[in-house]
Order: sequence, then structure tokens, then C-alpha cells
Amino acid sequence: MEQAIGVIDSGVGGLTVAYELMRQLPKEKLIYLGDTARCPYGPRSEEEVKQFTWELVDFLLEKNIKMLVVACNTATAFTLQELQGKLDIPVIGVIQPGARAAIKFTRNNNIGVIGTEGTIRSEAYTKALESIHSNIKVNALACPLFVPMVEQGILTGTKAQEVVESSLLPLRDDKDMDTLILGCTHYPLLKPTIQDVMGEQVTVISSSEETARETSTILDVHKIINTSEVIPVHQFYTTGELEIFVEISKSIFQDPYLQMVTIKQAQIGLGQTQNS
Ligand code: DGL
Repeated sequence: MEQAIGVIDSGVGGLTVAYELMRQLPKEKLIYLGDTARCPYGPRSEEEVKQFTWELVDFLLEKNIKMLVVACNTATAFTLQELQGKLDIPVIGVIQPGARAAIKFTRNNNIGVIGTEGTIRSEAYTKALESIHSNIKVNALACPLFVPMVEQGILTGTKAQEVVESSLLPLRDDKDMDTLILGCTHYPLLKPTIQDVMGEQVTVISSSEETARETSTILDVHKIINTSEVIPVHQFYTTGELEIFVEISKSIFQDPYLQMVTIKQAQIGLGQTQNS
């Protein structure tokens, strides 16, 4: 089936999931929408996150997507169930895949989770982990400074190191924790710094690989895999400034992937798009 897979996030974070989808499912076309203009979602109320998420979804539904990947933990925490209940296409989030990946890696069942205020407040990771394994100790921490920093393109250097170090201080006392879930799709862009601060005894997990693997299974089960040999041209949209979005895309998708992407600006809620 040649229709595209829709991917949404509050900004550039979901590009880390899009990259894995492109790598693991090279025949599938993606239509990505990042709500950069209204990012971050993390400090917003559940109601507002739901409203914004539905606006993103409506934009993609108009483009006739065959499946939806909610590549945002905050939107997954607050909206996944509702989306799965109301849409007649398959919908996957990033929290269950992230939880499954962490359980695969932990050796002592002590798992840390970092995410936005909304994701941590929802306790979605704790619930997901406990739904799979009842004997898991979860240490969860909100890191509200990470997303605004990533959206500005600050991924390495002194500022990134300082912010990551001070934010993760409460977790570094937990000597039992052997696995840390990056419970926000923006955080893999800071992964080298996070790994450095946490030390090599901690396995740092991003949900993107597992989400792409599970997407592949869903396409198979629903018999909606694309079998065409035509190389897809992916469409990426941002509601915000194109320049910074393109810059960050370049740091995630090196060639040949970058050549397969067109990036445009989108206006949400008005049902129209604007070419770059
Ligand atoms: N990438 C989003 C997530 O995974 C970031 C949320 C935000 O905008 O604060 O939660």
C-alpha cells in the first residue's frame, strides 16, 4: 500500500523516530509534522496537549495516511488511547516500545526515566513498565530545560553539558539504576552528553528503534506494507521557522536520507500549507 505513514511531534524530536523508520522501512513514505511553533508541549495541560495533537492528526488525515506514529511521549501519554479508539487506521505511540526496550536491557530491574513534566506527571512510563513486569523499580525525573535547548539547536558544547549535568544530578545518586529511558523524543539528540554524564554503567535507551520495529510488525499484521520499488520522497512539515528545522534535520539525516526529504512550512487548523 503506497499511502504514507504519518508521524507527529511537538517539534524536531520526532525526527529521531522518523530517522529509524526510514532506516528500518526504506520502502515506506513518511509525512512528518512537527508543531515547532507551539513547542514545548511538556509544560502544557492535558487538555491543551490533546487539542494540539488532534490538530496535527487532522492535518495528516487529510493527506490520507495509512498509519499514525505518535513520535512524542507527551502526546502519547495524554492522547494515545483516545486516538486508538477514534481513528480507523493503526496508531502507535512511543511509550510502550520504550518500556519494552528498557525491560530487554535491564539486568537488575532498576530503571530510570527522564521526560517532560507532562510525561512524568502522567506516570505513563511507570504504568507501562509495571504492566509488563510487576517487579520493577522506576526512578522518574522531569527535565524541562532539555526540549527548549534542543529546539534552539544546542546539542553539544559547554551549555549542553552544564544543563544536562545539573538536570540529571538527582538521578546520579541512584547507584542501582542500570538502564535509563530517554522518555522524550528530543532527548536522543543529547544522548552523547547524557551518556557521558550518567557513565558507561548505565544503558541509555531511546524508544525510536523499538518503535520502528513495532511499526514494521503493525504494517505486516494489517497487510499495509508498501511493496512498490519506487524510492519514496518524504514530506516533512513544521509549523515554525524553516531554517532551524532544516539545520537540525541535517544533523539527524545525513545523506542519502536528507536527499529523500522535502521540508515545508504548515499552518495548523487552517487546512492549508505553504511551500518553502
Ligand atoms: N518530543 C516531545 C516528547 O517526546 C517533546 C515534548 C515537548 O514539546 O515538551 O515528549
